[in-house]
Amino acid sequence: MYYNRKNSKEEMLKNSMNFAPLLLLQLLLIAIAVQYSTADESFDVRQHLSTVSRYGIVKDIADDSFVPSLNLDQCTPIHLNLVARHGTRAPTKKRIRELEAFAIRLEVLVRDVKEQKQSLDKIPAWLMGWNSPWKGKSTGGELISEGEDELYHLGIRVREQFPSLFSEEYHPAIYSIKATQVPRASASAVAFGMGLFSGKGKLGPGGHRAFAVTSESRASDTVLRFHDCCQSYKDFRRSQEPTVKKLKEPILDEITHELVKQYGLNFTKQDVSSLWFLCKQEASLLNITNQACSLFSPAEVSLLEWADDLELFILKGYGNSLNYRMGVPLLEDVIQSMEQAIKAKEEGYAPGSYEKARLRFAHAETLLPFSCLIGLFLEESEFELIQREQTLQYPPKPPKTRNWRGNLVAPFAGNNMLVLYSCTSDNSSKYFVKVLHNERPIPIPGCNGSDSCPFEVFKERIAAPHLKHDYNSLCNVNSEQEKKDSSPSMFSQMFGWIFSQKNSDTPTQKVEL
Ligand SMILES: *[C@@H]1O[C@H](CO)[C@@H](O)[C@H](O)[C@H]1NC(C)=O
Ligand SMILES: *[C@@H]1O[C@H](CO)[C@@H](O)[C@H](O)[C@H]1NC(C)=O
Ligand SMILES: *[C@@H]1O[C@H](CO)[C@@H](O)[C@H](O)[C@H]1NC(C)=O
Ligand SMILES: *[C@@H]1O[C@H](CO)[C@@H](O)[C@H](O)[C@H]1NC(C)=O
Repeated sequence: MYYNRKNSKEEMLKNSMNFAPLLLLQLLLIAIAVQYSTADESFDVRQHLSTVSRYGIVKDIADDSFVPSLNLDQCTPIHLNLVARHGTRAPTKKRIRELEAFAIRLEVLVRDVKEQKQSLDKIPAWLMGWNSPWKGKSTGGELISEGEDELYHLGIRVREQFPSLFSEEYHPAIYSIKATQVPRASASAVAFGMGLFSGKGKLGPGGHRAFAVTSESRASDTVLRFHDCCQSYKDFRRSQEPTVKKLKEPILDEITHELVKQYGLNFTKQDVSSLWFLCKQEASLLNITNQACSLFSPAEVSLLEWADDLELFILKGYGNSLNYRMGVPLLEDVIQSMEQAIKAKEEGYAPGSYEKARLRFAHAETLLPFSCLIGLFLEESEFELIQREQTLQYPPKPPKTRNWRGNLVAPFAGNNMLVLYSCTSDNSSKYFVKVLHNERPIPIPGCNGSDSCPFEVFKERIAAPHLKHDYNSLCNVNSEQEKKDSSPSMFSQMFGWIFSQKNSDTPTQKVEL
């Protein structure tokens, strides 16, 4: 149940009854109150948590109006590329400490009220003596059991949806499973594989089988952790911190003011920011919506959600071309896997001798740029802007609607699947790429808004404009790396030097999703 502010609104109405001339205003207020309380009932805060959203909660709220346009009945899937974010995970160690500090801060706020001999009536009961549910935990960030469940069932559904792709005996060269060198990502890969191959092996009552999950070293994983290897991106992100803060400030100011008035506690902006973080964790990980989340009205939740989405847009999405361009090694990897699959098909390789699926488990920092590289969540006109290297408008503030929503773009276990089809009847184009986002067909603006694209169009129109950029020059990869390359240009050497100087002693401040 989502708590609402009906009570205080009713009180407001009662007070206004004393003034007969305000009858009209009363009627107006009643109308507003009624409208709000009905809206509140259908408002589920768990659907408004940006990238802290659970897969099961948001998987089915996507737009239903989209009707896949191209008929691929005459086609068979021959290869699948998956890029998935890890499943629901515990808060990181840093965030756990932040919540512990926040418990002490709440104590202070309540004590101030007591000391001033003010009434405690307005203070929600849960808040008195609140303790972080993660108190005392010395480690964090791991995949939790709900997250295992998300990936395990995703694995089962993918096999059911593409039986012909997954009918073969497992071999690491046929089903390549890759994860980043981060435990929640590799645990996600394992959970997915357990679902995908369940019943196909001889291990235990579930008929499990062993399978390989491989990772590149964290320091050089440019395919799945390109954000972490890209110096110029790290510099960009740091440079944007003031911009993001400034954009969020008015929202936090407004809500802080409102909460102080309503609960009689002297919350600061930082407190409100912690409360919103707590709300997201409680609602997503513990299914608790009647504590921190209940302090915010639906309208306030929508604003906080938008502020999160805006930050995501600026730092990890379409806000800056480097955010996604640095993902070229991943896009290259995807295209190359499709070309290999086409070659295997054309040259009639023996079954069991070529790859059928490349399955990758990584982070929001991987999935978001990848979605941008293939141009998802854009209007067709915006796709043209991106191709012309022009910048997009920020996602509009509620109540306006927006395509760019963190809860849909990158929830826990969020994923893109690119399925390569081979078609026999249409001789003009034999291979098609179909894009599924969170398992649903999604319009590809670069492909006239269809959910599938002739492979050549996908390659030339969507991928090629990005692939002409080179990761090392985009990222000013440090000089050590450059020494390995044949002859680094003067330009990149110079930059490599400048950036390595600047960053040798200032670790990037980052919150990884
Ligand atoms: C909150 O701050 C206001 C203004 O600074 C002050 O007047 C009030 O006493 C404070 N209330 C509490 C409970 O500390
Ligand atoms: C979460 O809470 C809601 C009620 O607030 C309940 O209907 C739902 O079953 C709960 N979900 C889980 C997974 O416990
Ligand atoms: C396919 O090829 C046949 C004969 O080569 C031709 O008659 C037919 O029009 C072609 N179909 C398309 C869709 O190009
Ligand atoms: C998109 O539509 C235009 C004009 O209608 C057409 O020329 C183009 O071939 C189409 N592209 C794709 C990928 O279908």
